[in-house]
Amino acid sequence: MHKAQLRTLGQKVELAYEDRGQGHAVVLLHGFCGSSQYWKFIAPALENGYRLIIPDLRGHGQSSVPEGPYLMETMAEDIAELLEQLEIEKAVLFGHSMGGYVTAAFAGKHPDKLAGCGLIHSTALPDNEEGKRKRSDNMEAIRQRGMNAFAGELIPKLFAKAHLESMSREVESMTAIGQATHPDGAIRSLQGMRERTDRTMVLRMAEVPVLLVAGAEDQIVLPDKTFSVEGDNISTFLLDGAAHMGMIEAPSLLADRMKAFLSQIYG
Ligand code: MLT
Repeated sequence: MHKAQLRTLGQKVELAYEDRGQGHAVVLLHGFCGSSQYWKFIAPALENGYRLIIPDLRGHGQSSVPEGPYLMETMAEDIAELLEQLEIEKAVLFGHSMGGYVTAAFAGKHPDKLAGCGLIHSTALPDNEEGKRKRSDNMEAIRQRGMNAFAGELIPKLFAKAHLESMSREVESMTAIGQATHPDGAIRSLQGMRERTDRTMVLRMAEVPVLLVAGAEDQIVLPDKTFSVEGDNISTFLLDGAAHMGMIEAPSLLADRMKAFLSQIYG
């Protein structure tokens, strides 16, 4: 892993990231309580034609845990700073779930740096009142019971029921990533997700191609929520055989769709 020393909106942040492959830049952003490891099956399929930048978002993986809250636009700014340091002028961003919220925030703030974007098991919609309450409950659960219990319950719920057994090793290794997340990193991300704004118009009005991917069996972000926005530049893809972890549950199908999307942009 590389380490970048950033100053994001005046705040010092150390971002760990993978930098692999060559070609047009593609950034892959993991979800809540994840890490760059979420892309371990997708990266080999893409790195033959593209330069992949795969960070650990702030508060996650090997990145630092600065003060919060981690607003989606602040995390998007981390990515803009990282791209600037790497002298990458434009990139395609793909974001899984919370990474998708960050991607949408990036699209709103830095359309000039964006060649296209994909939201995977994510949504342009903000939390409703019940969702906001759940964020607060989850913050309290982490404070009371710690990450082992919290991520130990959360991560298996991201997989389709049938995969809990057939992919038990992956469920275990993704759970371990969640449990290793710093509790403050997780709490500050929950605060940021709770406060995120509606990015429907950002996606609808995007001047670059936008891909929305939903997992047919996703119980965390239902397909209807992923596909809530339509627009001239938006295409959709329903990923069979996956719940909320398509990168792990159906990596070949997902990678093929991502590659087709990248070919649409770069030829
Ligand atoms: C994620 O996987 O990033 C989270 O499930 C997103 C969320 O809780 O909204």
